[in-house]
Amino acid sequence: MTLRFEAACPEGLCPGWSFILKGEPPSEASKFEINFLCERDDRIAFHFNPRFTESDIICNSYVSNRWGQEERCTTFPFGAEEPFQIEIYSDNENFHVFIDESKIMQYKHRVEDLKTITKVQVANDINISSVEITKKPFY
Ligand code: GAL
Repeated sequence: MTLRFEAACPEGLCPGWSFILKGEPPSEASKFEINFLCERDDRIAFHFNPRFTESDIICNSYVSNRWGQEERCTTFPFGAEEPFQIEIYSDNENFHVFIDESKIMQYKHRVEDLKTITKVQVANDINISSVEITKKPFY
């Protein structure tokens, strides 16, 4: 895994924080991923994984040392060298994902103790131009 970005928020990223990533897949992109992690025990609360080879977005969680049931999103608004913006934020029930301000999916929380989700990372085939992490005003 090639890490492109990582940030820790010891007080917890969920619910209420919005993560906004601007970037562009390189010409030979195969996949990239955004992971919301629990630092304490290496769980991945939310793995968001666009795969160019499948034209699908695979979402999953890694808990108790194994991957769970995949959720596939067949909306695939990514193209090589096409700039995009992803926003992910969570409320108490779901992660909500927007691409270029259109909502494409939501992912129901599997890690229930939201305060333990303290790290976000971006990896693999993506050239990042900016990352913004802000608290949503309604929390
Ligand atoms: C695996 C892959 C992991 C992750 C997982 C999601 O096949 O190796 O990186 O994407 O699927 O279910």
